[in-house]
Parts: sequence; structure tokens; C-alpha cells
Amino acid sequence: MPDLSGRRIALVGGAGFIGHHLALTLKERGADVHVIDGLEVNNLLSYLALPSQNPNRDLYLKIINQRLRKLEAAGVPLHVQDAREYDKLSRILGEIEPQTVVQLAAVAHANRSNKDPMSTFDHSLRTLENALDYSRDKAEHFVYFSSSMVYGNFLTPEVDETHPLDPIGIYGALKLAGERMCIAYKQVFDLDYTIIRPSALYGPGCVSRRVSQVFIENALVGDKLRVDGLGEERIDFSWVEDVIEGTVRAIEHPAGRNEAFNITTGGARTLRELIEIVQEHFPEVEVEYVERDALRPFRGTLKIDKAREAIGYDPRTKLEDGLDRYVAWYRDLVSDGVLSAR
Ligand SMILES: NC(=O)c1ccc[n+]([C@@H]2O[C@H](COP(=O)([O-])OP(=O)(O)OC[C@H]3O[C@@H](n4cnc5c(N)ncnc54)[C@H](O)[C@@H]3O)[C@@H](O)[C@H]2O)c1
Repeated sequence: MPDLSGRRIALVGGAGFIGHHLALTLKERGADVHVIDGLEVNNLLSYLALPSQNPNRDLYLKIINQRLRKLEAAGVPLHVQDAREYDKLSRILGEIEPQTVVQLAAVAHANRSNKDPMSTFDHSLRTLENALDYSRDKAEHFVYFSSSMVYGNFLTPEVDETHPLDPIGIYGALKLAGERMCIAYKQVFDLDYTIIRPSALYGPGCVSRRVSQVFIENALVGDKLRVDGLGEERIDFSWVEDVIEGTVRAIEHPAGRNEAFNITTGGARTLRELIEIVQEHFPEVEVEYVERDALRPFRGTLKIDKAREAIGYDPRTKLEDGLDRYVAWYRDLVSDGVLSAR
């Protein structure tokens, strides 16, 4: 297990789904970890601003409050700051003096990015530029959360990191631009980077409404599962804690420097398989097939051999086991009736 005793690490966008899990794990491994987050995008302030009759409002505020309470209980400082503000972000980073900066801030959703490219640019690339510029001569290592979306349509059922980068839509284009910015800061300022390319994370603490979460929520209230397309689409669903373990290894391991890694389960499953697993938990649930979003690339398995060999990444969680845990967490979460208004 990697030991990060005393390493000062700042997570920009660290109060989100992935960030709060990463902060808690880094803290457990002995790091001096700080979270910087504006709480405005897909977080506390955006859900507080929703009308009270919105069915997601109370549930998602509950999830977000759980995340914030966990950070507080673990003694992880939360600096509430919009990372678009360069001077204020730099001042906070200057106080923390991180050796490693992890960039998670973004509009972390392809559909939402296509609907609002301007704000996606600001929250994703402006924040990245600000964090890189602070880090260029003050930090040792910059970790950037990219995405499987940088590949666009997979040309083969399995892709490694050498697959052509040909994204479709705003989200993937900005992720690729972000990767190139990290590489440029290495070229110009010798700032070491690591690029993480995850895919379709699932697990407790998410409010992004990716497909596995929507399926569970619909099933819990007796609503249908609406499947885009015919259910044949293959996705490399990844249990959040596996991805966190890969990220911790990339931070700790010298061979993680100046490389891009697929950090996923390393085995795609069809939407139909996901439905079958959900139906084992909710046998009554019905399925409806609806039109597929034409802007979503056809993906598949992200090969993880490179991360296995270089940094010892070894994900263990099968979709069946992850879903078991995720459903159990959801049942407990909604046991007070927070979903009944739907
Ligand atoms: N979750 C996935 O399946 C997945 C897959 C591939 C890539 N990623 C990438 O991983 C990263 C984290 O994703 P996530 O699922 O945790 O998303 P998330 O929406 O839960 O977290 C993003 C966080 O960034 C913060 N943020 C956004 N703009 C900010 C700003 N201007 N200043 C300060 N904070 C700001 C938000 O408040 C939020 O807490 C993102 O870059 C995302 O694109 C996620």
C-alpha cells in the first residue's frame, strides 16, 4: 500500500464525487491533503438553488452534505474558492505549499458540456490554466483528470493509450486540450505531470446522474429503466475506489510521472448486462428503449496494462460486486423516505 506520509497535496475540485474519495484515501495514507472547491458546479450551491419541488434536490443535498461531513470528520481542510479566480487560488495554494496538485475541477458531464460550452470552458480549462500556472515553479507534480472521451469512437473493442485522440463534442475536446496544456507545461517549465483517463465511475457519493445511478434511482421508486439505443453499447464501468487506488499509485510511484494512463476496470460490459444486474436487485423493474444521443462516442474496454506494469494498478471490483455495494448504500440512504416525493 503506497505510503504518502507528510506529502502536501492540494485537490482542486476536491469536494466532488471523485475528489472527496481521493482526499479521504490520501489522508488515510498519511498525506497532508487540502481540498479547494467552489461548491458551485454540480455541488452544494447548484442543488440548493434548485426549486424545492425538484425530485433530486433533497436527495442530492443529502449526498453532498455526507461528503462534506466526511471530509470534516477526517480533518481535511476545505477551502471554498472558485478556481477561476487566479489571484485568490494562487494565494490559497501559496499557503498550502503543495508538492502535488491534482486537478479535478470541471463540468464533469458530456451532455451538460455540450449545452453550455462557455461555462464548461471556464470551469474546466480556465481553472486548469490557473492551477498549472501556480504549480509551474512551485509544485513537483501535477495530476490531471482527463477522460476516456479523448479517444472519441473506439476504433477497436479495446484501446490502449496509443489509440488516436479524436474526441466528439465539447467535453472531450476540452479534456484533450487540458492534456496538451499539461504536456506543454512540462516542455516549457519542466513541471512533471500525470494524466489519468477514467471512464464511467460509479459508487457512493455521486450526484452526476450517470447511467448506473439513474437506473438504481428509477428502480428504487418503481420507474422504468430508460436505455439509450439497443443496450448493446459497451462501457468500462469503474468502481470509484479502484480508480482512487490507481490515482494514489500514480501520485506515489516515480514511474507515474509524465505519462497518460487508462485507469478503469479494464473490461467493458454492455448496458444490457448492467440492466440484468440491476434486475437481480429489483426483479419487477421494467425497461424502455429510447433514442441514443448521437454525440456520444461508441466506446469499449480501456486497456490498463500500462498502469499495471508501471505503477502496479490492480483493480479488483467486478460490476456485479460494485453494484451490490452501491445498491446497499442507496437503500440505506433513502430509508428515511428522501426519494418518496418522486
Ligand atoms: N465521474 C466520472 O465517471 C469521470 C469519468 C471521466 C473523467 N472524470 C473527470 O474527473 C474529474 C472529477 O469528476 P467528478 O465525477 O468528481 O465530478 P464532480 O462534478 O463531482 O466534481 C467536480 C468538482 O469540481 C468543482 N468545480 C467545478 N468548477 C470549479 C471551479 N471553477 N472552482 C472550484 N471548483 C470547481 C465542483 O464544485 C465539483 O466539486 C472531472 O474533471 C471529470 O471530468 C470523471
